[in-house]
Amino acid sequence: MRSPFDVLLVDADADEEEIEQAYRSRVKEVHPDQGGTVEEFQAVRTAYERLKAGYQENGEAPEFDDGDPDEEAPDQRAHSEVTYLDYDVLADFGWETDDADLFRKAAAADLDEADYGQFDVDPGQSLLEAAEDHGFAWPFACRGGACANCAILLVEGELSMPASHVLPQEMMERGIRLSCNAIPITRELKVVYNVKHMPDLDDLLLPPTPFDRAYSDD
Ligand code: FES
Repeated sequence: MRSPFDVLLVDADADEEEIEQAYRSRVKEVHPDQGGTVEEFQAVRTAYERLKAGYQENGEAPEFDDGDPDEEAPDQRAHSEVTYLDYDVLADFGWETDDADLFRKAAAADLDEADYGQFDVDPGQSLLEAAEDHGFAWPFACRGGACANCAILLVEGELSMPASHVLPQEMMERGIRLSCNAIPITRELKVVYNVKHMPDLDDLLLPPTPFDRAYSDD
């Protein structure tokens, strides 16, 4: 297994700031949406987390040997765990999406399982498919990246999405993703789902599906 310094392409005496800069640059280069692979992406994240943990522990550059050939590489086919929160709940409680304590507050609020909780996502499975497999009716319309009905806000973790989708770059930078074609590439994620009525997303919506219409007519 390569040393984390080698994975991030920094010298073994790099300081914390150099490691941070190297991580930001490498994680963009190897992101699956930029032509990288899930394995490369996860290796870069793991290397960064190992180095960061070393700094937090010692307050100085962590030391790693050149790698133990017998050490097992992390299992790239493991499930991801998603913690989800319904956007409608935020209005009920007066919470904001940029609140750093949002998920801690949600965990303490004794919410219904449909509004807050966790589920596993199989390797290669989209977030929407996984939600449905666990019995949740998350919103959608086209299921193909052509609308914003299935939009979620990514609060923590990372997802891969094919290049062909309607979201402008500015929304991607705000953390908006499409659950119908977003596939987790980190072990843990936090998402706010049902964000289709957030500002600027309304223009990208398709008319409701027959299921939604029947549901809202009740
Ligand atoms: Fe239309 Fe996901 S349902 S983009």
